[in-house]
Amino acid sequence: MKKRKNIITVAIDSPAAAGAGTQARLIAKHYNLLQLDTGRIYRLIGKLKLENPKKFGYSFVKKKINNLRLKSLQNKNLLSDKVAISASIIAKDKKIRNMVHQFQQKCAYSPPIRYAGSVLDGRDIITVQVRDAMFKFYITASLKVRSKRRFKEYKNLKKKITYKEVLKSLRNRDKSDRQRKYGPLKKTKDSILINTTKLSRKRCFEKIKVIMDRKLNI
Ligand code: C5P
Repeated sequence: MKKRKNIITVAIDSPAAAGAGTQARLIAKHYNLLQLDTGRIYRLIGKLKLENPKKFGYSFVKKKINNLRLKSLQNKNLLSDKVAISASIIAKDKKIRNMVHQFQQKCAYSPPIRYAGSVLDGRDIITVQVRDAMFKFYITASLKVRSKRRFKEYKNLKKKITYKEVLKSLRNRDKSDRQRKYGPLKKTKDSILINTTKLSRKRCFEKIKVIMDRKLNI
């Protein structure tokens, strides 16, 4: 893969439902960057496992990733809690993580020419995927606030799930994502901490924008 030179690269790591996806979207729009929500790839694989328990295996996953289109990651049926849990289980597998790696590298370092760069968010973006990113943000919020936000999203999507179930699910996923052996979620020293517990989307983006504009000399 040929890396494009002089592009803007933004890497974001965060626990589930901390607002990283929303900020990545706002950053992508404002700075004209290709956006990749890497959790969607793991969700897609997690969903494949739920739907094809017998066929599911490395070669099956590899084929799917080789033919992966960004558009298929927009599918709303990736947004259920069941799929998220399945995603966090398959995400522990080193071989699967390596398969996803190549796709992420291409998006990060070689986005289509119409974009000025890329913004990726996930759990291991700063630590593994885009270690030399121009901007590194670690976005977080309290478990309670994240659960409230996710519960509201599920309600809007008409999902049948209680607040308590959402809280429990996020707590378990936090634990699994932080303690797993490969690509665990952790904050690096060189990333900027943004705590969105008491911040609105707008205020959060304003903070990020100040940091980015300063370095980009805008
Ligand atoms: O971000 P989202 O909640 O959609 O991610 C679903 C799951 O995918 C996470 O709980 C995590 O286990 C996995 N994931 C990962 N590495 C990433 C992004 C997501 O392991 N870069």
